[in-house]
Amino acid sequence: MQYGGGKLEDESWPTQREASNEVSYGNFPAFPVYSTFMRSIWKGLPHNEADAAVAAWLSAPDGAERPLPADARAAVVEELRHRPKARLSHTFLYDELGSTLYEEICKTPEYFLTGHEAALVKAKAADIAFDAFHSAAANGDEQDVQVVVEFGSGDGHKTLALLRALRPLAQHTIYAPLDLSAEALQTCVSAVSAMVSSEPGRPLSTMPLQGNYDETLFEAAALPGRKLYLFMGSNLGNFTDAQAIAFLRGVARHMTHRDRLLLGVDTPHSSTKSPSMIEAAYNDARGVTAAFTINALRHVNRVAGLDFDWRDGWCHEAKYSHDERAIVTHLVSRREQVTASSVPHDCIVTAS
Ligand SMILES: C[S@@+](CC[C@H](N)C(=O)[O-])C[C@H]1O[C@@H](n2cnc3c(N)ncnc32)[C@H](O)[C@@H]1O
Repeated sequence: MQYGGGKLEDESWPTQREASNEVSYGNFPAFPVYSTFMRSIWKGLPHNEADAAVAAWLSAPDGAERPLPADARAAVVEELRHRPKARLSHTFLYDELGSTLYEEICKTPEYFLTGHEAALVKAKAADIAFDAFHSAAANGDEQDVQVVVEFGSGDGHKTLALLRALRPLAQHTIYAPLDLSAEALQTCVSAVSAMVSSEPGRPLSTMPLQGNYDETLFEAAALPGRKLYLFMGSNLGNFTDAQAIAFLRGVARHMTHRDRLLLGVDTPHSSTKSPSMIEAAYNDARGVTAAFTINALRHVNRVAGLDFDWRDGWCHEAKYSHDERAIVTHLVSRREQVTASSVPHDCIVTAS
């Protein structure tokens, strides 16, 4: 397959709305992961944790996931033929390496979202708990069981403050983090277990569910008890508008009038938040976000049986769109690309 100088759009991004961009050809401001990493060394920056994370990613062996089924591989190949841009599922961002890089992104000084949201959740934990569960307890309708279902929990570190506030409000609290990433779920469950064992209180158990939301929501929704659904980290921005609406409708179908949904999304630019501040959050100086984006292609290569040159053939581009009032992220091909494909009916496609 040939992919000519176009943009590959992640159906994704951990903040805000993803938009379709017009595609242009030619030279884009390159932000290749190698040069970013090297530039940080040339600048004399210390070989710090974030740079080490990028270096570790570059040299890490590929994961050993099973290849996609033939029809899904064919769908990826078909999408990549689209001119002038292709759009692939955001789920390719979150393999094991991607999840590790996302945790690193959260530590970069430019990525303000995590710190702000964590502070907000901590400050408002008591109010959220009151709204979600306490009013029932105050009316003598104390729940035996209350359930916190978190979509895309990641390592769940923001949720601990909320669980602390909720725990006294029912005889038993169940925390059900849902995530594609087994590694993220493991970190999440360990953190909750550590909290439970170091802080005495009412029982709090975890029920991690690994997989796509479509696969795990039914099981989580079937747990007994009043529920608080969490969808934080501007994770809704992983969806297109249509997908976001369908997703929220799907969640609503599982909710009773006693359940609650807490949605955490970033706001567009404002007098206190310039577009450049938002852009900087997705173009961190150490190249962790670039590595995270490019890792999606590395992942696609592996599971779809392709061999794109992910090390040098692509760059990460994240620009604030005033029309969309959101950051828009692309993988931009730096040149014409030819890749072998294991899809049986594949053929060479000439760039337009
Ligand atoms: C942007 S991170 C947010 C993590 C955490 N909620 C936070 O606020 O820091 C997105 C998380 O959602 C998970 N995720 C993304 N799409 C998913 C999907 N379709 N089904 C299940 N998990 C998904 C990823 O694996 C990742 O851990």
